[in-house]
Amino acid sequence: MRKQIAAGNWKMNLSAQEAQSLASEVVNMAKDEYQGDAEVIFGVPYPYLSLVQHITKDHPNMHLAAQNLHQADKGAYTGEVSATMLTSIGVTHVIIGHSERREYQGENNDLLADKIDKALENGLVPIYCFGEKLEEREGGNTLRVIEEQVSEGSFHLDAANFSKCILAYEPVWAIGTGKTASPEQAQEVHAFIRKLITDKYGAEVAEGTTILYGGSVKPANANDLFAQPDIDGGLVGGASLKSRDFTEILKAL
Ligand code: PGA
Repeated sequence: MRKQIAAGNWKMNLSAQEAQSLASEVVNMAKDEYQGDAEVIFGVPYPYLSLVQHITKDHPNMHLAAQNLHQADKGAYTGEVSATMLTSIGVTHVIIGHSERREYQGENNDLLADKIDKALENGLVPIYCFGEKLEEREGGNTLRVIEEQVSEGSFHLDAANFSKCILAYEPVWAIGTGKTASPEQAQEVHAFIRKLITDKYGAEVAEGTTILYGGSVKPANANDLFAQPDIDGGLVGGASLKSRDFTEILKAL
């Protein structure tokens, strides 16, 4: 079902103490200041997942995401983390295909399709990320790149499983750069994504799919972005590390 979501991606930041304070502050501010029914997702580094789980567990609209998972069930994969490990500590969501993993870990659409399968098999909600690079946008290839990433990574799913996924459009040139896609630029791509889903799975599935925007979402631009008809919330990096900023972004929903 289509939802409104403020998802934070803490990336490789914070000490355990800082993680604990940040999560507690957001929970308290949201409780005091936000009456809507949007969901909050915390995308937390592996070592802090349990810590944050204890803080969010009594809040039905707050969820916990890992930033990655391995595509195998278990075994000799030193340093990796499996879907069952995540579910066993109360993780409900997992970010898959973030551009930083595509870029630095060489993750491609085929591998990401396997990771999405593994997440779904274990009852985790995939937050599937994709987005064009600057040279792809400047070369006029944005929509082609998006179509490839979305279809190769997620269109192998049947409609029932696809409907469980959250999508996140994150133009690579806007991540961590302070450059945001304009609301019109973002809306154009979001509408295109929804059209791809309509063509593949039909209008009902497309209307029900939550599509987040990510890339320098801040309190100052969140209202305009979230006012777009096909933008259902944000996947927020830098601003999710500040409780006040992240809460303001939630309130913009
Ligand atoms: P940013 O990161 O908000 O710092 O640009 C977004 C993301 O990478 O998810």
